[in-house]
Amino acid sequence: KDPRIDGIKTKIRVVPDFPKKGIMFQDITTLLLDPKAFKDTIDLFVERYRHMNISVVAEARGFIFGTPIALAIGAKFVPLRKPKKLPGEIIFEEYELEYGSDRLEMHVEAVDSGDRALVVDDLIATGGTLCAAMNLLRRVGADVVECACVIELPELNGRERLEGKPLYVLVEYR
Ligand code: PRP
Ligand code: MG
Repeated sequence: KDPRIDGIKTKIRVVPDFPKKGIMFQDITTLLLDPKAFKDTIDLFVERYRHMNISVVAEARGFIFGTPIALAIGAKFVPLRKPKKLPGEIIFEEYELEYGSDRLEMHVEAVDSGDRALVVDDLIATGGTLCAAMNLLRRVGADVVECACVIELPELNGRERLEGKPLYVLVEYR
């Protein structure tokens, strides 16, 4: 295990009973306050992906980790956004939340068939968000090479929803 991982984990704040009772919330904003730990986080991803011929990095509803990774590995960045934020031609995927459903949209012209995609998110819980993100990329013909998250909650079995697609995570919370 890389020695930088423990330093990263100590900077993630765990908040009990947020946003509601019984939920343990992993807060990455405290990681972002520590330039060394934030840089280590990005570096670990960049070291893994820089020689994998990734041509596009996509991230759902947050651009904190995906954008510096894309810049460093020389890939384009494609935001997957909540409804009505993207002005061009879009496709969308609906996905289930604990209560109700949500929707991710992507600009169709942003990704080409033959693109090699990395899907980034801060956290995987049930895997619904990553699943929807992967589907958007596949529908326009991209090859999803891997998914990458800072945090995994393995007890929620999100990995199973990815149907064997490789998932790389830095820290787990059980
Ligand atoms: C959180 C987190 C992941 C998602 C993971 O986002 O940022 O994107 O949950 O959960 P899942 O694996 O069960 O899909 P959230 O939907 O709370 O919204 P946000 O990114 O806009 O904060
Ligand atoms: Mg999210």
